[in-house]
Amino acid sequence: MRIPNASSGLIQALLRTVHFKDAATLAHNVRIGQICSILAKQLAPDIAEYIETAGSLHDIGKIAIPDHILCKYGPLTDDEFRVIKTHSAIGENILERCPIFDNEKANSVARNLVRHHHERWDGTGYPDGKKGEYIPMEARIAAVADAYDAMVSWRIYKRPYTHEHAVDSLQNDSGTHFQDEVVKSFISCKGEVMRVYSDPRVDTSAVCPALDSDGNMPT
Ligand SMILES: [Fe+2]
Ligand SMILES: [Fe+2]
Repeated sequence: MRIPNASSGLIQALLRTVHFKDAATLAHNVRIGQICSILAKQLAPDIAEYIETAGSLHDIGKIAIPDHILCKYGPLTDDEFRVIKTHSAIGENILERCPIFDNEKANSVARNLVRHHHERWDGTGYPDGKKGEYIPMEARIAAVADAYDAMVSWRIYKRPYTHEHAVDSLQNDSGTHFQDEVVKSFISCKGEVMRVYSDPRVDTSAVCPALDSDGNMPT
């Protein structure tokens, strides 16, 4: 899969590394970049130029998570979940050591997005428990894109939700998990977001564990 707007060798190499670790994570990362770009054109045009690449790297820190945890089939223990949660700070650390853009503003957008994409509007997220407008806009945008994509994709533990179910869930969590303004923008961009999923290269089933021939989850 070619990564849109990611022409530099370094970015391609980082994403290719993720691909060999986990093909599903690569496809997810690319979609998040595309959705971030759509939302940023409305919400933060000054960063729209960089956010697609930054969004496509949001889970880059997962390359440091052991496979037996990252790809575990079944519920995570509290300790395993603590390990998974380190991926956002690890990702920022990678981008600090390997700046991907040739200007500091763009690098700062990328580091902020990667570090803070699991913060929550009400301050209960991680890694820093940042709250409200202390969370950089790039990370608020990525949080909505990330949650939506996770909901409409296969996961080891669930089938994909419909678009309507996923949007209902975003609206339910608006003001607690997500900034209301970002959720509203997402809904207003529905047509463009849908085009991301109609791209024939997009395969939201990539994280699907081995299903039986009728498409049923193994029991
Ligand atoms: Fe993440
Ligand atoms: Fe993600």
